[in-house]
Order: sequence, then structure tokens, then C-alpha cells
Amino acid sequence: MKVVTTSPAMQRVAELVDRVAATASNVLVLGESGTGKDATARLIHDRSPRRDRPFVKIDCAALPEELLESELFGYEKGAFTGASDSKRGRLEAADGGTLVLDEIASLIPSSQAKLLRVIEERRFERLGGKQPIEIDVRIIALANVDIKEAVRARAFRDDLYYRLAVVTIELPRLVDRFEDLPQLADDFVRQFASRSGRNGVRLSSEALDALSSYDFPGNVRELRNIIEHAVLMSSKDLIGVEGLPEYLRSAARLMQSRKTKPSLAELEAVYIREVLEHTRGNKTRAAEILGISRKNLYEKMRRYNIGKLSAKPIAKLGGSEFVVPGSEFEAHSEPGTLDPELS
Ligand SMILES: Nc1ncnc2c1ncn2[C@@H]1O[C@H](COP(=O)(O)OP(=O)(O)O)[C@@H](O)[C@H]1O
Ligand SMILES: [Mg+2]
Repeated sequence: MKVVTTSPAMQRVAELVDRVAATASNVLVLGESGTGKDATARLIHDRSPRRDRPFVKIDCAALPEELLESELFGYEKGAFTGASDSKRGRLEAADGGTLVLDEIASLIPSSQAKLLRVIEERRFERLGGKQPIEIDVRIIALANVDIKEAVRARAFRDDLYYRLAVVTIELPRLVDRFEDLPQLADDFVRQFASRSGRNGVRLSSEALDALSSYDFPGNVRELRNIIEHAVLMSSKDLIGVEGLPEYLRSAARLMQSRKTKPSLAELEAVYIREVLEHTRGNKTRAAEILGISRKNLYEKMRRYNIGKLSAKPIAKLGGSEFVVPGSEFEAHSEPGTLDPELS
């Protein structure tokens, strides 16, 4: 994976990644959702001497407590009702490699205590087992910054926190690394365009301006989704603002972000789109709101090349409704994040 590091904030992150990759220390990666925590964990593993060993991930928030422990530690036959066979857990699967614990703050106290013991003694037992199993894993824990608050409130053990946070990498929000935006956007455009065999697709400067005036609460993931959508929606090589979600291309933003003011026609097009989205494509209703005839509305839609957005909205992104053809929208699981044996 390539890391875009034009911004000073990301240059610091990249340096830390390289430095920690060479070691076997546990790492705590902090950041808001979509800032690239998973991606960073993968990068550390890929650049570490463990790169040819397993890379195993477990999401502590995704599984109910009992299941989480049996997934993590494995179990012996008869450990609980339904344990008709023994099974090794992800900890064992990660031996010699890297274990990523996503959403670490969701661990309940008893699991926190067990994990602390694994780190301190480098061994553990499967559930219902007596035989200690020696283990060599590098743990990369992922969390939102509010884990620090949980430690202060004693909801998360501080001794475990310090064992995990031998090195802490705090990922900046996308707005705090805006120097990287053009490059990131460009990379995503290339990536999605090449999937459909379209080379030479790029963002117009208006589209980039609109992106630059937005604050991306969903960070890099949101940018990626917006670009994926825009590439899908555009049939031309130059992606204009039409492909962007309404909340990015509203007239006000256009006015604010541009050095040269938009023309009346551009504003009209933006507003018509906005109203059509509001009426979910209902043109009679849209014409009423706009105070023009349906015929006039159709003419304007043709002139401004509007109409592709009038299908039924099926996904929500950042509060605005979106049409998602063949929805590949959220959660792309990166290859290799799960031990195939365990999934
Ligand atoms: N530095 C980066 N360069 C390119 N893509 C990135 C970068 N950081 C994150 N991404 C992409 O953004 C999305 C969200 O990243 P992810 O690591 O899942 O975030 P988090 O785990 O913090 O929620 C993923 O699709 C990932 O590929
Ligand atoms: Mg994640």
C-alpha cells in the first residue's frame, strides 16, 4: 500500500511507522473512524521482519463477549456447551506474526485481564484448557482517541493500556492533513477508474475545490466513498461537481470555495439538482418548488445533463442520500486481514 505523506502530520506518522516496524514492540494506533487505522496496522506488518508470518485481525466490538474470548484464545473440547471439538484461537493463529485487535476499548474487564497476562507472560491457555501455550505475537491495538478517557475513568485498565501503547501512533483527521487531499483524491480516482478499464479519468478543479471546502467527518474512508461514487456516476473523463454528493456541491459551498464566482447557469444547475434530490426525483414536485413548468424543467435538465440522480436512493452517506449502483459502498475488507483458517 502507498501512503500519501505530503502533509507534515503524515510525514511524522510515516517516520513512526518505519521506526516501529523494525521492532517487535506492541503498538497502539489511535484515530477517528476512517483515518486509516487498519491500513496503518497492515503497513507496519508489511514493513516488519514478520511480514511473511501471519497477519491476523479480530474486531473486539463485533463479537459478543463469550464468542470473543473463544475466538481469541481458542478452546478445548467440552469447554462449554457446544464445544464438541477443540479449536485454536486467533492468538495461536498469529504466532510469529502480528495480531491486530480492533476497537480495543470494547474489551470487557475480564478479557482485559486475560490479555494483560498474555502480554506479560507470553503464554496462555485455551478456554477449558490447562496446557500453557507459548506465544510470540506483536500486538497492534486500534482505538479511537477516547480510549484515553476510558483509562482515566478506569473503564480500561491502565496497566494494559501501557503494555499496548509501547509506541502510540495517532492518525490525523483528514482536515488536519489537507495538503494530502489532491493526491489522495487522485489516487482514488485512478484506482476506481482502472477497475472499469478507464484510464485518463481525472477530477476537475471545480470538483477538487468542492472537496476542499468540506470537512470530512468520515475522513479518508468518506473521501474514498465519495470518489468511488463520482467515478461511477461520470461517463466522461473529467469528473465535475455533478458526480459529488449534494452536501458538497451546494451553491453556498461553490461560492465560498471558488476564486472565480460561479455563473448563473452553474448555480441554476446546482440548485435544480438539490431540489430534485429533495423531491427524490419527483419532477412535478420539483417544478412546483422551482416555480417553473415541467416542460421547462425537462429542458433545463437536458441542458445541464441532470437526470442520472433521479433513481431511488438506497444508501445514506453523511446525511445526504445517494444512489449507489451495485453498492460496494462501505466496508471493503482488505485482503489478508483474516486468517483464512479461522474465517
Ligand atoms: N493513507 C492512506 N492512503 C490510502 N488509502 C487510505 C489511507 N488511509 C486509509 N485509507 C483508506 O481509507 C479507508 C479507511 O481506512 P481504515 O484503515 O479502514 O480506517 P479506520 O480503521 O481508521 O476506520 C480504507 O478504504 C483505506 O484503504
Ligand atoms: Mg477500522
